[in-house]
Amino acid sequence: MIIVKVGGSVFSDKKGEPENFDEETVGRIAGEIAGFYPEEDFIIVHGGGSFGHPEAKKYGIRKGLPGDWKTAHHRRMGFTLTHQAMLRANEKFIDAFVSKNLPAFSVSTSSLFITENGEVAYGDVEVIKRLLELRFIPVLFGDVSVDLAKGIDILSGDQIITYLAKMLGPKKVVFLMDVDGIYDGRPGEGSLIGSLSKDEIDALLDRLHCTAAGTDVTGGICNKLQEAKKIAEHAEVWFVNGKVPGRLRGAIRGDGFGTRITG
Ligand code: IPE
Repeated sequence: MIIVKVGGSVFSDKKGEPENFDEETVGRIAGEIAGFYPEEDFIIVHGGGSFGHPEAKKYGIRKGLPGDWKTAHHRRMGFTLTHQAMLRANEKFIDAFVSKNLPAFSVSTSSLFITENGEVAYGDVEVIKRLLELRFIPVLFGDVSVDLAKGIDILSGDQIITYLAKMLGPKKVVFLMDVDGIYDGRPGEGSLIGSLSKDEIDALLDRLHCTAAGTDVTGGICNKLQEAKKIAEHAEVWFVNGKVPGRLRGAIRGDGFGTRITG
């Protein structure tokens, strides 16, 4: 089984109009996966992009539910609206996969996972396991979450993948991004790292000036690397450019262009 994360910047322009969706790219990604199904099983996890992020920010979802009714009510409404925005993104994904004759099935993250300060505290993978056995392609997404510490929070697609990798033991996890992989420096400035072992990640985090708090100066890459280190305990991890035709196919085959992280 292979888990594919489609980052928000791959299927939408985060700085563009709300809820813009790159149908061509997602259709092509579905097409590359169709080349391996049903010999290979897949789980797809997509990010928020221009769907979930603007709503989550507007309503301050990450601040949780406060005691006073008025603010809490406003945030509850935002929680619902952020989820609905994610469902609209998810529907577009399902449509793209179905049009390539793939049995993609929508699984709402917020109905299966509970977080504690944004990290998975509880997750029910039973339905996902059964869907895989029945040869479906479960499609999850970064979503709002019920949170044990804050009442409500956001659960990112990357966190979901770390949990799924631990529970389901995929053979490979592929992160699709809008850059070619992991750079030894800022994307476009440092050189692209072709291959890396998980034991080399800490030194790279230092070189990229990633602090323990995950301060990000390199476009989300610190957090991604920290998650990749955990995932690499269970599976081979690939970071490839989802905007370029053939890169996902190469990562699935195992001879692709991008960054490969081994255990
Ligand atoms: C965010 O998910 C989900 C919401 C904002 C509701 P991700 O953190 O996985 O999304 P991207 O890939 O950065 O867009």
